[in-house]
This record gives sequence, structure tokens and C-alpha cells, in this order.
Amino acid sequence: MNVVDAGALEDFADATTRQVTLGDRVVVIVRLGDDVYVLDDRCSHEDFSLARGTVDPDECTIECARHGALFSLKDGEALTLPATHPVRRYEATVRDGRVEVSVA
Ligand code: FES
Repeated sequence: MNVVDAGALEDFADATTRQVTLGDRVVVIVRLGDDVYVLDDRCSHEDFSLARGTVDPDECTIECARHGALFSLKDGEALTLPATHPVRRYEATVRDGRVEVSVA
């Protein structure tokens, strides 16, 4: 397991998306309060950036801006069509105010 520093928690605005490159991976990071969620920044329906989508902090979801598929930020599961496959999710923790992401 490879743990990568993704930046200071305070630099992530609440309930907004941010595309971050971690080594050879491009992910979307969403902060909801003290929790941080990390998914591959690629919709599973078509090749489209989820960082351009909309976060629903109450449902803990992100909506793809292209065709409207909903994904769970908690596990990357596709919740609505047209997406039928999950998006890869990464473990993220906050340590000493830094966001750390585990990438395999
Ligand atoms: S590209 Fe995301 S729902 Fe179609």
C-alpha cells in the first residue's frame, strides 16, 4: 500500500470537488466536514471528469455533469443510470491536518 499526501485539509473547500493528480492517477477529492472522499476522476459511463460534477453533501453523492449518473462518495457505487459500474474508490485519512490517500 502506497500512501500519498494529497494536501492540507484546510485547502479543500467543503462539499466541492477538486481534481488531484497522485502519481499516475487522476482522482477527484471531496471534503465533507472532517471526512474526505476520493474516487477515480473518471465516470464509469463514459470518459468524463467527475470533478466537473455536483456534490450532494446530505446524500454523500456526486452527480456526473455529462449525463447525470449518481455515484456514492462512500464506496464509488453507481446509484443511477446511465452508469452501471462503480468508480474506484481510495481510502483517505486525515493525519495532522494533511489528507493522505492510499493508492495500491
Ligand atoms: S459520462 Fe457520466 S453519466 Fe455519462
